[in-house]
Amino acid sequence: MRLLPATKSQPKEMLPVARKPIVQYVVEELVANGIGEILFITGRKKASIENHFDSDPDLARAIHTSGREGLLKEIEFEDLGAHLYYTRQRVQRGLGDAVLCGESFAGEQPFVVALGDSILGLHANSRCVARMVELFDERRASCVIAVEEVPREQTAQYGIIEPGPGENAWCRVVRLVEKPAPRDAPSNLAIAGRYIFSPVIFDMIRQVEPDERGEIQLTDAIQRLCEEGGRVLAVRLPPSERRYDIGNFPSYFETFVEFALADPDYGPALRAAIERLLRTS
Ligand code: G1P
Repeated sequence: MRLLPATKSQPKEMLPVARKPIVQYVVEELVANGIGEILFITGRKKASIENHFDSDPDLARAIHTSGREGLLKEIEFEDLGAHLYYTRQRVQRGLGDAVLCGESFAGEQPFVVALGDSILGLHANSRCVARMVELFDERRASCVIAVEEVPREQTAQYGIIEPGPGENAWCRVVRLVEKPAPRDAPSNLAIAGRYIFSPVIFDMIRQVEPDERGEIQLTDAIQRLCEEGGRVLAVRLPPSERRYDIGNFPSYFETFVEFALADPDYGPALRAAIERLLRTS
């Protein structure tokens, strides 16, 4: 709803940021972090995501025929070297419920959850997920969450953790609250759209009551896991791997401009154009 009318007939995950749709950055980030099997949990109106990752021999042929071979590298992502699978959440019942749709895919294995509206790092250069996997294994955790500091007044937009003891880059999670008002927030560390879970989370999700909007919150299931003695850890995103949130227009606009400015081919001309605009406005 926050991105209407841009998302009236297309999923927000397909909005472009500079040259690519958001979801392509997310997939490229996961593959670069060693994830080789990806299940997309989509819904009605999100079929274009599947189409985007499908190979398009007609387009490739047309590019060949036109003699513009250079363009072929623009669709190289079709050959990611990862296996992609798709399923649908039939009713929008919240993030926790969406994760449940992946239960049989995950089986007995730990798995990563990545939200399709968040890019980690400029041009998805983050290696946070790989570090989270390492920590998960090393500490025999039940869950590892990526977190990022946000201004206090923004806590009501995110899941917020209460940090416990830890080391520089990570800490134990004592408690979590979904979207607390700033005065109730246990810290300013916000859940940043990447999680690793052991399959025990599925039972926790099933025990969670829907919130007042009828949604099953993933944050509530992780809170339950903490209460049951599960080892829940958080990894801080360093500023160089900050999270780009595409969930609202102000941060979508900023993300687009920052990514476009960093484009090796088009960035310099855009910078000059923006400087010109700022001088004359
Ligand atoms: C979801 C999660 C929230 C997390 C956020 C990150 O909220 O419920 O805990 O901080 O993603 O983007 P949503 O943005 O779907 O409302």
